[in-house]
Amino acid sequence: MKKSISTFLKHPVKDNTNRSANPPVIRASTILFNSMQELYQHEKKVKSHKKISHYTYGRYGSTTTIELEKIIKELEQAYHVFLTGTGFGGISLALMSLCRPGDEILVSDNVYGTTREISEDLLKEFNVDAIFYNPDKFEDLQNKVTKKTKMILVENPGSNTFEFQDLSKIVKLAKQKNILTLLDNTWGTPLYLKPLKIGFDMSFSSATKYFSGHSDAMGGTLAVNKKVFKKIMFFYKLSGYRMSADEAYLIIRGLRTLDVRLKKHFDNTKKIINFLKKHKKIKEILYPHKPSSKNYKLWKKYYSGATGLLSIVIKSKKKSSVIKFVNSLEIFGIGYSWGGFESLAILQELRKGSEYIKGRNFFRFTRDEHIVRLHIGLEDPKDLVNDLKKSLKHIK
Ligand SMILES: Cc1ncc(COP(=O)(O)O)c(C=O)c1O
Repeated sequence: MKKSISTFLKHPVKDNTNRSANPPVIRASTILFNSMQELYQHEKKVKSHKKISHYTYGRYGSTTTIELEKIIKELEQAYHVFLTGTGFGGISLALMSLCRPGDEILVSDNVYGTTREISEDLLKEFNVDAIFYNPDKFEDLQNKVTKKTKMILVENPGSNTFEFQDLSKIVKLAKQKNILTLLDNTWGTPLYLKPLKIGFDMSFSSATKYFSGHSDAMGGTLAVNKKVFKKIMFFYKLSGYRMSADEAYLIIRGLRTLDVRLKKHFDNTKKIINFLKKHKKIKEILYPHKPSSKNYKLWKKYYSGATGLLSIVIKSKKKSSVIKFVNSLEIFGIGYSWGGFESLAILQELRKGSEYIKGRNFFRFTRDEHIVRLHIGLEDPKDLVNDLKKSLKHIK
């Protein structure tokens, strides 16, 4: 019987041996075989990418991580899924597996801060040049392609500023020039966007965010097509990347309610935006909510839903009053990450010269415009609106 993805997420794995509705957590370094012949045969199966229920050694994963791989493979419609111990591990796995001295990579200027750091700083030490392109101008990307371009690294929408790009145009350009493509799809999740189906070679998600959904686990998933599989597998094995069985279990548990949670995040976010858009201290809301905007049109073109992360742009000559606004929120916590059950707020510094992160090359906001990122959680939206309303009064 053909099942919808919502049904699939509720029943992906069971524990048939112990009759539990949930899979067992198999913690293993040693995996036992009945004979050397069985071990050798299994080794061959793993190498030839046959369906397996266990690996030959715990460094490559256990039954629990294989179950998670299977779920993500189905969600992403992927050839294979690599699991990493943090989300960022998935990004570094892709870059370190595929970039070699003399290569250039084209990186969307609005990528997550640490993605920018690895591209700009670490890869440089391996003689790989990262060139940042303006996510609002496809021609800028086009003009920066050279014979050395190995990969285009896109994050959609961009971290903190939420620009949406025309994804199939990027794929078309990359295919014409034989360039690999990687999309950080953490915001939309493969429930709302399937990058591999559009033609990207790799689709990355930080499983720390919506997949786990409870702010208590970390992990990354790198879903790939057949073209890049071998090279990434080579590096994956030799670099020791791995996700623990305990994290895999928590992420499987989170995924069961991914569809339900995302719907509620989206519903709550729409309600919060309805309040924010009438508030005179807010200059702009960075989220695909205005049907006349370019970002909305590009979101609509590719996504079947939206999630709970957005930014607000506050115009104020007094940055201290914006900090006061954030500090005085009671329900919204102050902290990094997002995608959990709870609402969060954080003032983001994205300009060059910032003390905290590497600044952007293409930043369109003035000194008096401050970006506060909000993650809208699963609380009662009326309480969230009241919290924002009372705290926004501090802005001068
Ligand atoms: C868009 C995006 N990609 C990647 C990451 C890295 O994920 P992790 O924190 O799980 O290492 C983050 C973390 O905030 C993120 O926001």
